[in-house]
Amino acid sequence: MQNLVLHEANIDDCNNFFKLANDLDVRNVSFNQELIDYQTHIKWYHNKLNSTNDKLYTLRNENSFIGQIRFEIKNNYAIISIAIEKKFRGLGYGSIILNKGCNEFWNFFKFDIIAYVKFDNISSYNLFIKNNFIFQKYLFINKIKAIELKLKYEERYTNW
Ligand SMILES: CC(C)(COP(=O)(O)OP(=O)(O)OC[C@H]1O[C@@H](n2cnc3c(N)ncnc32)[C@H](O)[C@@H]1OP(=O)(O)O)[C@@H](O)C(=O)NCCC(=O)NCCS
Repeated sequence: MQNLVLHEANIDDCNNFFKLANDLDVRNVSFNQELIDYQTHIKWYHNKLNSTNDKLYTLRNENSFIGQIRFEIKNNYAIISIAIEKKFRGLGYGSIILNKGCNEFWNFFKFDIIAYVKFDNISSYNLFIKNNFIFQKYLFINKIKAIELKLKYEERYTNW
């Protein structure tokens, strides 16, 4: 758990994001489950890095890429997305990247943060609830049952 650093993602992280996005567990919990081909990823990743509506961060220790956190800004809120490398899951890194990522994001944007979690993604639901996200509602995304959770900007000081 030492020397953990959150960095804004750059072009050198393109392959880390690609590998993690195609991890079978990650595909399974996303709302579009098809594998992503490399050319599609490169285009998507460049667009994200160049977009003023997206903030992408990585968590690393001195040796390894541990995971990613992204924020996609809509009008006055942001949608969060998190994934941790398989070998680092269940070790507390999810809470760390969530904490560091939200605080970094809030240095730039004073928006509430929304998470959409697949109904059966227990680990993700537990992660957000443990970190003070509040259940909002059930909904369907691409015909898949999902849960919306929210972390309000106004409540940031009481959270972490
Ligand atoms: C969801 C994910 C980001 C959690 O990260 P993580 O590093 O494994 O989580 P942590 O070790 O920090 O655990 C934080 C909390 O999450 C919950 N959690 C984590 N793994 C869990 C599991 N296998 N089963 C149930 N709850 C789990 C627990 O509440 C845990 O707190 P606790 O250890 O005090 O009980 C990670 O499992 C992952 O990358 N999954 C695949 C992608 C994904 O589901 N992304 C989210 C899409 S919305």
